[in-house]
Amino acid sequence: MKKQIAVIKGDGIGPEIVNQAEKVLAAISFRFDHSFQLKYVDMGACAIEKFGVPITDEALDICKESDAVLLGAIGDPKFDNDPTLKVRPEQGLLKLRKELGLYANIRPIATYKEVEEFSPLKTDRLKDVDFVIYRELIGGIYFGEKKLAENGSEASDLCSYSVEQIEAITRRAFEAAMVRKKHLTLVDKANVLETSRLWRKEVTRISADYPEVKLDFLFVDNAAMQVIQAPGSFDVILTENMFGDIISDLASVITGSIGLLPSASLGDSNGLFEPIHGSYPQAKNLDIANPKATILSVAMMMDHFGLNQEATVIRNAIKWALKEKLTTQDIDAENPYGCNIVGDLIAQYIEENDSVTFNRRNSEESKGVLI
Ligand code: IPM
Ligand code: MN
Repeated sequence: MKKQIAVIKGDGIGPEIVNQAEKVLAAISFRFDHSFQLKYVDMGACAIEKFGVPITDEALDICKESDAVLLGAIGDPKFDNDPTLKVRPEQGLLKLRKELGLYANIRPIATYKEVEEFSPLKTDRLKDVDFVIYRELIGGIYFGEKKLAENGSEASDLCSYSVEQIEAITRRAFEAAMVRKKHLTLVDKANVLETSRLWRKEVTRISADYPEVKLDFLFVDNAAMQVIQAPGSFDVILTENMFGDIISDLASVITGSIGLLPSASLGDSNGLFEPIHGSYPQAKNLDIANPKATILSVAMMMDHFGLNQEATVIRNAIKWALKEKLTTQDIDAENPYGCNIVGDLIAQYIEENDSVTFNRRNSEESKGVLI
């Protein structure tokens, strides 16, 4: 199979983690005889520095004509705390999502027993935790009309949704539920918001096409409690943009490692794949960043291409690396491996048909370099 992939390394640890994902792409193309053509594009603080804008039109065009976009992370602290700035790295991401029509943000929350001890929850709560969040990504308050009074004394952000927008993501969420545990929870604030009431009405109407799926509803404040108290009770969570942003961050901490969580943002044809963590600027160039969430995002990309076996091979390689304790310092502070060597070993495992002539001595040496 031939595919063109736009690669956005971004800011902070972005380049380091994307480099490891590229090794995995190369290993997959070698093992399965695919051809992935990579085209590099700037976005984020690095693009602001180079071009004065967080993403250029040329960069957007390359992403649009690609089959998928692989993103590391964007963001820099120097933009974070100054609300008067007109140009910010995040605008690049929002523009990319909108222009590519990426309306479905998918964030699977899976647990791995190797990192359970880092979860803020008691281990017994983590039993059966395996759910996925479907967040609407290009509507709602993020993209509604914004106003600021001339004298700066008042501001507003409009939250609006059309039935078409609701239907597009809702169908995808039901399709996902059909191949999972057949349970869909709509998270909203229908006791207060008109948009939420429209979501409930539309989702209920569409649910008639998926009679096997059990549909229930949760107000977002209650959902925040349930995600902590009973995370094992969810299968597919469907929600609008802003609630999805918050609930997915909440959900991401319960597994014990945000460094293992990938995401996909899909439109009708294109897709953007990125780890859910940020650019972690403090770790830049230290070779300590965890590349696994980015590598798992490549697995989601493979699923998007219909290459399910390739996706499984990548996920198995990650499980193997965790089992072998080939992990960065966020997961193993006493015996950490560098970002680069973790990427090398995972790629090697894939390339050598799920085995590795694993040379502990070499790895020990590379650990030495790290320390
Ligand atoms: C996310 C991020 C973005 C969002 C930011 C960077 C604009 O938090 O992908 O969840 O709010 O959607
Ligand atoms: Mn977020």
